[in-house]
Amino acid sequence: MALKITTLEERPEFASSLWDMDHTWPEFVLNDPIADLFYAIATTTYAGYVLVADDDAEPGRLVARGCMIPYLAEGGELPEDGWDGVIRSGWLARTRGLPADGISALEISVRSDLQGRGLSSVMLAAMRERAARLGHTELVAPVRPNRKHLEPRTPMTEYASRTRPDGLPHDAWLRVHVRAGGKIVKVAPRSMVVAGTLDEWRKWTDLPFDRTGAVEVPGALTPVHCDVDQDHAVYVEPNVWVSHPLT
Ligand SMILES: CC(C)(COP(=O)(O)OP(=O)(O)OC[C@H]1O[C@@H](n2cnc3c(N)ncnc32)[C@H](O)[C@@H]1OP(=O)(O)O)[C@@H](O)C(=O)NCCC(=O)NCCS
Repeated sequence: MALKITTLEERPEFASSLWDMDHTWPEFVLNDPIADLFYAIATTTYAGYVLVADDDAEPGRLVARGCMIPYLAEGGELPEDGWDGVIRSGWLARTRGLPADGISALEISVRSDLQGRGLSSVMLAAMRERAARLGHTELVAPVRPNRKHLEPRTPMTEYASRTRPDGLPHDAWLRVHVRAGGKIVKVAPRSMVVAGTLDEWRKWTDLPFDRTGAVEVPGALTPVHCDVDQDHAVYVEPNVWVSHPLT
């Protein structure tokens, strides 16, 4: 496969199909209100920060996408609200006319039929390269470990620090980041918050949501908090901050 990776700014024809690519994201994640905000502005305001990839053999058909956002780092700690936090910070900096001095990766998604072929590390390398070309010396990423959903009750701090005998992370997606030169910094305990009525959660998951307490939902990294009396359930997703030095 001869992959061609560019920015969306260079190939705006991908804007209309960017979010239609066959993917494996669970439905409830797409209902994070901050995701809604980002998806609406990614193809316009941040087109220079979105990478699109297609294959020479099938030009014009999206193989993978990668999204980043510039945000207000101000030399401070990486935010506890990871993914949601950098999107809010980036957008607020922009509307207030403040210079965004940091850059964060937001996602890399590989088309579902092409997963497991080593494309994620190629996209990550392209992302690092693009961030460096934009003048940044560090790319940070609130990483969503791709095997954590198999053990939702394990605390993320314990999961993220688990390593294999060769010293690399137990989690495959964290491993890709570390192999690329990234360093695990800390957990972002509330990287994404998805709240919904019980009917909304039933629609998103096909689960009954008929008992108060912790509900394990396929694809969720931690249990969802369900309150039947109050007719709502809330999911708080932890991610793992990884720092990629670019020099
Ligand atoms: C996570 C994702 C980007 C990985 O991309 P990919 O191109 O399929 O992954 P790769 O083929 O490059 O493999 C990377 C590692 O993951 C492992 N892996 C890939 N698919 C896997 C699967 N289904 N189950 C277990 N491990 C898997 C590979 O073995 C490899 O690990 P290694 O260090 O042992 O070699 C892709 O699965 C995806 O798009 N997932 C949905 C979106 C998402 O979760 N993105 C990440 C959060 S932003």
